[in-house]
Amino acid sequence: MCGIFAYLNYLIPKKREEILELLVNGLKRLEYRGYDSAGVAVDSAASKDISIIKKTGKVALLEEEIKSRSNELDVSGTVETHCGIAHTRWATHGIPNEVNSHPQRSDPRNGFVVVHNGIITNYKAVQTFLEKKGHVFESETDTEIIAKLIYHFHEQHPNYSFRELVENVVQQLEGAFALCFKSKYFPGECVATRRGSPLLVGIKTATRLATDHIPILYGKEHRPHGRGEFPTLPRTGSTSEFEPLEDKQVEYFFASDASAVIEHTNRVIYFEDDDVAAVKNGSLSIHRVRRGGDDPHKREITTLKMELQQIMKGNYDFFMQKEIFEQPESVINTMRGRMNFENGTVTLGGIKEYIPEIKRCRRLMLIGCGTSYHSAVATRQLLEELTELPVMVELASDFLDRTTPVFRDDVCFFISQSGETADTLMALRYCKLRGALIIGITNTVGSSICRESHCGVHINAGPEIGVASTKAYTSQFISLVMFALVMSEDRLSLRQRRQEIITGLKNLQHQIGEVLKLDNKVKLLAEDLYKKKSLLIMGRGFNFATCLEGALKVKELTYMHSEGIMAGELKHGPLALVDETMPVLMIVMRDPVYNKCMNALQQVTARSGKPILICEEGDQETMSYCQKSLEVPKTVDCLQGILTVIPMQLLSFHIAVLKGCNVDCPRNLAKSVTVE
Ligand code: AGP
Repeated sequence: MCGIFAYLNYLIPKKREEILELLVNGLKRLEYRGYDSAGVAVDSAASKDISIIKKTGKVALLEEEIKSRSNELDVSGTVETHCGIAHTRWATHGIPNEVNSHPQRSDPRNGFVVVHNGIITNYKAVQTFLEKKGHVFESETDTEIIAKLIYHFHEQHPNYSFRELVENVVQQLEGAFALCFKSKYFPGECVATRRGSPLLVGIKTATRLATDHIPILYGKEHRPHGRGEFPTLPRTGSTSEFEPLEDKQVEYFFASDASAVIEHTNRVIYFEDDDVAAVKNGSLSIHRVRRGGDDPHKREITTLKMELQQIMKGNYDFFMQKEIFEQPESVINTMRGRMNFENGTVTLGGIKEYIPEIKRCRRLMLIGCGTSYHSAVATRQLLEELTELPVMVELASDFLDRTTPVFRDDVCFFISQSGETADTLMALRYCKLRGALIIGITNTVGSSICRESHCGVHINAGPEIGVASTKAYTSQFISLVMFALVMSEDRLSLRQRRQEIITGLKNLQHQIGEVLKLDNKVKLLAEDLYKKKSLLIMGRGFNFATCLEGALKVKELTYMHSEGIMAGELKHGPLALVDETMPVLMIVMRDPVYNKCMNALQQVTARSGKPILICEEGDQETMSYCQKSLEVPKTVDCLQGILTVIPMQLLSFHIAVLKGCNVDCPRNLAKSVTVE
């Protein structure tokens, strides 16, 4: 998904080389989001113009391009105040090429330049209007209309401030966006805004900030007026820019997410939809055009706890590999301060006050996309068992397509690693509008889903950089299990069941460590499989989610076809795929559906299939039916999926490495899918 990074230094002398390096490094931190081209815009050395450098492909290629143009860019020159904007683009409108990359510009003289994350849905109408006014478009992007529209307003209202121009632009835009603007008419200024796509600003000063919040300046209630198709807003004029900083020397880092900012500062403000943030004369001000019902008066400055090394690769070759091997610790972090193994109690601070209300609800709805959805599939059976409530598990996109009925006494969970997934966020807003209680299960503090939920559980898995989700899955799984335990705390009849689950959770860290020891064995299996065209993964009951999640991992990382098959469905179609050449992996654990799984195993072997087994440690009898198997430690049935999914994560990882695929950024995919 596109990534925005902008850097503004005010009264802090910096070499152009340093500024360009800083912008490129910011983009490198955002690489994990997925992208296909990159670009930067900085002030030109020789004139007051803006230089734009763009490159298709990796940020490293952009870096080389900048180096090759170091004379023209006067990299050794110093600037005291400067604004640079940068972008990684994930193509939505128009193929990945340099013209379509961002920054997009207003005109051949680069009067205004803009970087954008999101999609403008009404861009055609705006483009037609601007073309009639004589603007000539050079790219196929929706973003170019933004750069040209601000230029159009500037020509109409030459005395409007930069911020006022941006406010007028966003009035005309429909869709989702985070935007960062730079202009040669407003040197040393930066204006940023968002609606539906994430954006934050990091603030760095030599001395501690004198404030922990920035007040919001509201425009007066008014209707746009003026001539033509795009009436403009009246000037807000009198509202003076707020100067929150004691120390005038200051640096600002605008970014799509905190990973690009954290090495510079841990003091950040997360913008809300429709905030327009402007830096002028070194001061940051946040404006909103209209005051709504419960609009707040200020934006808090948050102190990030995340460490840079947390987002680096450590001793691993790939982020995904590191994240798989972090799971013994990440599951503990999810349970820390919540599970009391001594007295068998569970406390979820973020939803504690809502538990009585949740217990009275009509049904639970678990909504997410991809891996996050699979964590709901994995825990549904336990939630039904321990809450005795109907539990609906929904893919966010399908849920919205169906305009599913939702009621005030529904409790809706929105599960998302990033907390920014567009479909999940829209489903959240849909349910909130209908009065349901909204619970966020996210890994990203300050994300949109976090902020828009009534309450929630932060899964505390730590930053997940690899596009393929691994440790977030096991932590989401555990968070939902803990919720089921909380809901059943006063049920005497469930005492024994709860206790065996609590003991299971206690042993997980050690058992995950044991599963990770299978790494070499899994690698050998990967060597057998990596040239195959397809892999079927079969199982049922508590392990069906592992089949779906395993198949998703194989598909996204290795580009090989893979399908998670409910073993009970074999005879209804999938069995036709099975012969001696079709790779099949089966999960057969000694749980309540063991006999049914064995039945499926026999159906496969009877068709000359040679399944690879994932089974319980020491289960010789089951292993005698297959030539190859991976043994995982036994835990309580409802937690077994945490241990069976790890060999699947390892298998997809090794196949991807053997096939030479890009493990951390698979083709066509993005870490955070902030568009529908
Ligand atoms: C999984 O490996 C994915 N890359 C993807 O399915 C992901 O889980 C999905 O896009 C949802 O993301 P979220 O958890 O950030 O909402």
